[in-house]
Parts: sequence; C-alpha cells; structure tokens
Amino acid sequence: MEHEGSTSDGPLLTTVELSKYYPIRRSFLSRSPVRFVRAVDKVSIELPRKKTTAVVGESGSGKTTLAMTMILAILPTSGKIFFEGREITSKKGQNSKELYRNMQMVFQDPDSSLDPRFRIKDLIAEPLRGLLHLNEQAISDQVNESLEAVGLSQEQSVRRPAQLSGGQKQRVAIARAIATKPKLVVLDEPTSALDASVQAQMLKLLLKLQNTYELSYMLITHNIAVAHYLSDIIAVMYTGNLVEYGPTKTVLRKPRHPYTITLISSTPIPNPLVRNLLKTEIRGEVPSAINPPSGCRFHPRCPFAEKRCSEEVPPLREISPGHYVACHFVDKTG
Ligand SMILES: Nc1ncnc2c1ncn2[C@@H]1O[C@H](COP(=O)(O)OP(=O)(O)O)[C@@H](O)[C@H]1O
Ligand code: SF4
Ligand SMILES: [Mg+2]
Repeated sequence: MEHEGSTSDGPLLTTVELSKYYPIRRSFLSRSPVRFVRAVDKVSIELPRKKTTAVVGESGSGKTTLAMTMILAILPTSGKIFFEGREITSKKGQNSKELYRNMQMVFQDPDSSLDPRFRIKDLIAEPLRGLLHLNEQAISDQVNESLEAVGLSQEQSVRRPAQLSGGQKQRVAIARAIATKPKLVVLDEPTSALDASVQAQMLKLLLKLQNTYELSYMLITHNIAVAHYLSDIIAVMYTGNLVEYGPTKTVLRKPRHPYTITLISSTPIPNPLVRNLLKTEIRGEVPSAINPPSGCRFHPRCPFAEKRCSEEVPPLREISPGHYVACHFVDKTG
C-alpha cells in the first residue's frame, strides 16, 4: 500500500509497519521489563478519506491499541504514521492541537468517557476550549450545532450524564467528537453497549453525520452486521496482525484468509472443500500476544496449515484490486 505524497485525494491516514508493545514487568520491585505484549505488530494500513474502515477481530486482537496508536493517544513502539501524507509519528514540528482536533475518538462506554460532574453542554465545549482558539460566542454556537446534529435538545444540554439514557449519553460522546470538526473519528464499538432498538438509530445517525461533515470513520466492531451496514472497507486483525483488508462487499462475500472465513461463519462458502474443512471447528484458543506462534500466527488453528506456515510470516499480498490477504496458501480458499 503506497503512502507517499500529500495529495488531497490520497488516503487520510496511513501506517507503515506500526507496532505497539506493552512491557510486562517481572514484579513491582523489578523495574526491568522482561517480556512484551505485542498488541499491535507491524500493521500497514490505509484509511481512505470520507469512508468507513471497519476493523474486526476477536477480543484482544489489538483493535483498540491500533486505533489509539494511530491517533497518537498512545505512542507507537516502532513504525510510521502519515496523516494526509505528512509523517506525524513523533509529533515533532507538528501543531499537535491541530492534529488532535482532526482525530477524535468515541468509546464503547459513555459512562467511562463522560465526566459525571459536568453538564452536557460543558462536556461538548471542553475539546473546543482545549483545541481551538475560539471566543465564548463561537464555542456556544458550535456546541448548539453539535447538539442539534446528534438530536439532543437545549433542555437536555443543561443536564448531567446520569440524567440521560444510554443512547443519549452516546449521542453526547459523538457530539463531543464532532464538535472540533475533525477529519477522522474512531468509533470503538460505538453501539455494543446499547439496546438493539437504540443501536439502529445510532447507526443511522453515524451515517448522517458522516455525510454532513465528510467524516472518515475507523469503526471498531466485533459485529459483522454493523460492519456490513456502515463500512466501505474491512480490515481483519488476528493477534496484533492485519490478516485481510479489502472492500467490505468483497471481504464479506468472498473472504479469503482462513481466519476471516471462520469469523464470518454465517457467510455461505461456495467452495465445498473449504466448507468441509472449516466444518471441523477451528481448534484451540486465541494465542497469547506475549509469546505468539512463529510464522503465521494462525497456524496452530488453521485447517490448511503446512510446514511453511510455522516458519515464514506470510506477507499481505494483493490478490485482486484493493483486496489484500496474508496467507501462504490463499489459493486453497479460492
Ligand atoms: N495498557 C496495556 N498494558 C498492557 N497490555 C495491554 C494494554 N492494553 C491492551 N493490552 C493488551 O494488548 C492486547 C490487545 O488489546 P486491545 O487492543 O484492547 O484489543 P481489542 O481492542 O482487539 O480487544 C491484549 O492482549 C491486551 O491484554
Ligand atoms: S499461512 Fe498457513 S497457517 Fe496461515 S492462514 Fe495461510 S494456510 Fe493457514
Ligand atoms: Mg477493544
């Protein structure tokens, strides 16, 4: 995937071999880190402009860490990040307020992201005060615009989070994220804490806001139906690695990495060989990101694994336009 150039039609954000390792300390007394959790390991990915990239994968596969590292909420261990073609990896020489106003995040649980002591309108004003040089009138106007955009009333804006429903609180979190007029919004499981009836409204709202404000979304979800509804691109993570990336329709209709095939198990699989092999359920547990399997990390569980799989890391290869798969034997799933 190319990352050069800062043309306005290039990708919004690109990572090159981005890694985040968390040190595990031996004990409270020993300060020397001995081992690492390889939460994100050499992920190269592009987020296109004004589109939604869904990141899917089991719990612990590194989705949240990837997102937080991409937007520099946590610093990477190695690798590079480009925003609109400019490298931002080590914010040096950057206007970091300008960068942060452009990259916002909505978390799964609004109760942990919204300070219960503040009124709704002050919660929405907070990033505006911190990141933009606006006068009080401009802040108030922007708060009102954001409230209206997410469907909250003036009367609700003077309440505190505890006085709102779960869905209303998530609307506040979204209003906060869009208030600075960002280019990228990361949505980390934005609807999974909500009732099913509220989820559908929230997905519609997210689509509407994307159109109004020309937002690029990075949508983290374990719900394939949500990814199907909202996303243009799907990226599949497995223990810190990106194993498949491509247009949502292609990946859902014809997943090619054996792990993606099992993840999207409800997808009809036309190839009878693949279907039968995958009937033998995927063996074993998700491997640990502390000591991941050699070669292809999926090899202990993969029905197609051969000797080479435990020896060589499969690179992400383009198998059709825009569709990338990291598997030595991708032909077997064709
Ligand atoms: N702050 C942290 N310190 C140590 N390990 C972490 C930290 N955050 C996440 N991890 C570990 O990194 C891996 C990826 O976690 P995470 O990015 O939260 O995955 P996901 O969002 O896909 O569930 C997991 O093994 C998790 O335990
Ligand atoms: S590289 Fe080997 S182990 Fe990994 S997914 Fe492909 S066939 Fe399975
Ligand atoms: Mg997560």
